[in-house]
Amino acid sequence: MTTRTIIILLGPPGSGKGSQAALIKSHMRLPHLSTGDLLRENVAAQSALGKIAKSYIDHGKLVPDAIILDMIMHRIEQEDCKKGFLLDGFPRTLVQAQALQLALSASDQLFIINLKVDDAMIIERISGRLICSKCMTPYHLRFAPPKAANVCDACGGELYQRADDTYEVIAKRLAVYHQQTAPLIEFYQNYPGFSTIDGTRSKEAIFNELVNALHIKS
Ligand code: AP5
Ligand code: MG
Repeated sequence: MTTRTIIILLGPPGSGKGSQAALIKSHMRLPHLSTGDLLRENVAAQSALGKIAKSYIDHGKLVPDAIILDMIMHRIEQEDCKKGFLLDGFPRTLVQAQALQLALSASDQLFIINLKVDDAMIIERISGRLICSKCMTPYHLRFAPPKAANVCDACGGELYQRADDTYEVIAKRLAVYHQQTAPLIEFYQNYPGFSTIDGTRSKEAIFNELVNALHIKS
């Protein structure tokens, strides 16, 4: 059986999961599966799933487990995930973590990276964030500005501000994180592939530590 490398990026909203995923993707040939990005694609396409998901996302609530599991479990069975994949924003509840466990096999190599950032810094990061409408790369007006205003460095796409990046929704997302997602730290912390990384430093410093945690060459 092929050994799959499965990386879970765990962390509160704005902790840098998407930013680190972009760096990991360029070093490892693993598909980046962000449940948030998949949901936003569905919202933009006004699919049936997108119409249901939108009201949850806009209010900072989690989309129901059954919808998320249906979406992601089909995705990880696709051909490009045969050698592994990088999960960003999934799992986010104990139910999701348990469902993922059932989809793993003994030969899988699992890494869980827990990015630790305090709430005050999260609010600062999210309130200045811009996202590429084409490739989803995150930028920040002060911390990671694009070379040209409102244009993605990577693909030339137009940058926009996410609808759930308002102060009120960020506060709700943080509360939901502490209540429903933070318990996953305890769920995973005894795994040999579990690492907690200080996510308050520069993107490069975090990535260097992450590379060491993944035992890969940068
Ligand atoms: P999702 O899209 O997953 O959002 P999130 O978890 O709230 O996290 P973010 O994408 O906001 O932050 P990030 O950690 O990726 O940080 P980023 O790299 O962008 O989910 C959105 C919604 O979808 C949820 O609220 C929920 O409704 C739904 N959903 C998704 N998955 C679900 C699931 N599994 N179950 C149920 N519902 C689900 O960085 C943030 C900013 O900081 C950027 O501007 C960036 O440039 C900057 N930055 C990053 N790193 C640094 C650094 N080291 N120094 C300075 N600035 C930095
Ligand atoms: Mg993200």
